[in-house]
Amino acid sequence: MESRNDGVLNGEELIEQAEAFLRLCYRELGKSEAELIDRSEAVREEIRRCGTYSHTAEELAHGAKMAWRHNSRCIGRLFWHTLEVIDARGAETAEQVAEALFSHLKRAANGGRIRPVMTVFQSGDDPAKVIRIWNHQLIRYAGYPGDGEHPRCGDPASDAFTVVCRRLGWQGKGGDFDVLPLVISIGEALPRWFRIPEELVQEVPLSHPDIERFGELQLRWYSVPVVSDMLLEIGGIRYPAAPFNGWYMETEIGSRNLGDAGRYNRLPMVADLLGLDRSTNTSLWKDRALLELNRAVLHSFKQAGVSIVDHHTAADQFVRFQEQEQQQGREVSGKWHWLIPPMSPSSTPIWNDNKLRELNLSPRLIYQKPAFVGLMEETKDAVPEELTCPFHHQK
Ligand code: ARG
Repeated sequence: MESRNDGVLNGEELIEQAEAFLRLCYRELGKSEAELIDRSEAVREEIRRCGTYSHTAEELAHGAKMAWRHNSRCIGRLFWHTLEVIDARGAETAEQVAEALFSHLKRAANGGRIRPVMTVFQSGDDPAKVIRIWNHQLIRYAGYPGDGEHPRCGDPASDAFTVVCRRLGWQGKGGDFDVLPLVISIGEALPRWFRIPEELVQEVPLSHPDIERFGELQLRWYSVPVVSDMLLEIGGIRYPAAPFNGWYMETEIGSRNLGDAGRYNRLPMVADLLGLDRSTNTSLWKDRALLELNRAVLHSFKQAGVSIVDHHTAADQFVRFQEQEQQQGREVSGKWHWLIPPMSPSSTPIWNDNKLRELNLSPRLIYQKPAFVGLMEETKDAVPEELTCPFHHQK
């Protein structure tokens, strides 16, 4: 039998993947052979009858944890078994989804002691009911490219999605740290947007342990990264909306989000504040600015009582994760160039690890096409002005 190219499995393939998952999952959960056989039989029958099957809450929770453990780009996997999984498969309307996302934010932020959480929405079996979260992360800042009169501001990584939000009728405050709304679609229906209540957006203003004037840079970042555009696959069942979070490693913010030339590009400003010579590479001004920016991130989060990990500690934790997995007789999937931190990578033990390989493991988290790409393309020419809603024109 042929499998469809959209990733939807036929019955026999689905049975195969379901059984492979149940074997792994039930062994890890310490269940008996009899339980495994009973459950596999029931799942096989359900698939023959309905073309699909549904996970028990326990299978869903453990499958989600396994997906984190298998994610080859994540340095923080030592804590995979602490993931809290919220079963939101009952949510059907955009309002219900938004409510569940608000609870996720509250539960994860936990007043600063961040808890790793994943909220799983219903599987994507029925196209009319498919839930998609259009945001890349639940909390992220808008990006405004600017024009002749106005300088660019905000996060360039959000430029395209910000246009989508504005076309849907959202109006931002502008500026560098303008939190985007949640955008949720159900099936082919118009997406809906929801402003995130302010009290759910915890942010940390950046200061430096010994450079007093650092505050003049007016930098800040949100405390909880909740990746919301990846697809969770467990035992052949696909969950297109399964947002998850951990806590930040400081280099994600200091080196990349604020440091990258294609993002906030703040190294020159930090260097100027430090009085460094930017006329020559040999002053190593970029390296020194990176260092102080990353120190500021660690210092500020710590001072605000918000969980964060430095890249040396995270790398050591990753090595412990590798040892732990080896003891369990499991191979670790890893992508070296994602796992080395974007500051002083050669000073961490991951640098010399030449055995890291990417494996094809399941359950897993996979990239999917951004929900808005097709619609943006289709409606590009039909929309006369920026702020009208392209989706109404289409209907
Ligand atoms: N790198 C992304 C960011 O800077 C977040 C990805 C998830 N990170 C995490 N620590 N769980 O926003």
